[in-house]
Amino acid sequence: MSYLTKRLTKKHQWNKLFKQRLSEPLHLNLIALFVFLFGSFRKKVAYDLVIRPQYAYGILEAAISAKKLGFTTISVIEFGVANGGGLMNMIEIAKKVTKSTGINVDIYGFDTGTGMPDPVDFRDHPEYYNTGDFPMNKAALEEKTNGKAKLIYGPIKDTLETFKKSLSEDCPIGFISVDVDYYSSTKEVLELFTAKAHSFLPLTHVYFDDIFMPHHNDKCGELLAIKEFNDINPYRNISYHRFFENQRIFKNANWVKQMYYFHVLDHDYRSKLKRNRKAYVLDNPYLKFEGNKKQFD
Ligand SMILES: C[S@@+](CC[C@H](N)C(=O)[O-])C[C@H]1O[C@@H](n2cnc3c(N)ncnc32)[C@H](O)[C@@H]1O
Repeated sequence: MSYLTKRLTKKHQWNKLFKQRLSEPLHLNLIALFVFLFGSFRKKVAYDLVIRPQYAYGILEAAISAKKLGFTTISVIEFGVANGGGLMNMIEIAKKVTKSTGINVDIYGFDTGTGMPDPVDFRDHPEYYNTGDFPMNKAALEEKTNGKAKLIYGPIKDTLETFKKSLSEDCPIGFISVDVDYYSSTKEVLELFTAKAHSFLPLTHVYFDDIFMPHHNDKCGELLAIKEFNDINPYRNISYHRFFENQRIFKNANWVKQMYYFHVLDHDYRSKLKRNRKAYVLDNPYLKFEGNKKQFD
């Protein structure tokens, strides 16, 4: 059975299909069918036709910006791997992104390797997640991924520092998925976001998985960790892009509300004041002057 068929045997996937996809206008779903049959990878990303659209969008956008900035490789990370469904989707997407953009993608996955650690207090949402949930079958995953992603095992607080030191300006981080469920684990993850500015693209895409259920709120879980990070880091900001939804063809999918931008404000791309370019001139079709005569010819 293919991965897609297996997904469709799950009740929550049908629920998602009906509530999030088939509630979109019929004409867009008909165009999507055409894109599914004949479209390019980029068009499929635009029409949410790639499994894990959040990863496809984030990695493709990161590669496109990296190319404009002159890089040849980007790094992407999944925090919280479990049995590796997401990581395997990431590997497949990365291959297609490279084919479409020419940008190489280095993939990293962080996990204890043994499932969820102990929750610390109510902020970790023990009502949803608990010790030992989401274990990993390491041998099977490593065999299947076959070195296409680097797996880093252990509590993130113990493995992150070495990884931070190994980061290279030549392959900046362009996309990060945070799926570690707890507030305490997300705090550990967000330590990465204090790495040197050039370790990242000036604007890095981040997907937060655990913010959409009824008990999630900004006094707990990932939302609290984001808020606290922003409060103490004046040159870094993880922010929700309130107009992102308007840029998507399909707007009802949950993931659209789970994408954040990580702004690296101390990156020189953003903080250099002198720019070597011509001044921008705004068009005014009502004015005739040297330089815009063409519009009146
Ligand atoms: C929901 S699962 C990840 C699912 C995966 N992203 C997927 O799409 O299939 C959450 C994972 O986060 C890992 N995790 C949570 N806290 C962690 C920590 N402090 N250090 C390392 N891994 C952690 C757990 O081991 C668990 O496997």
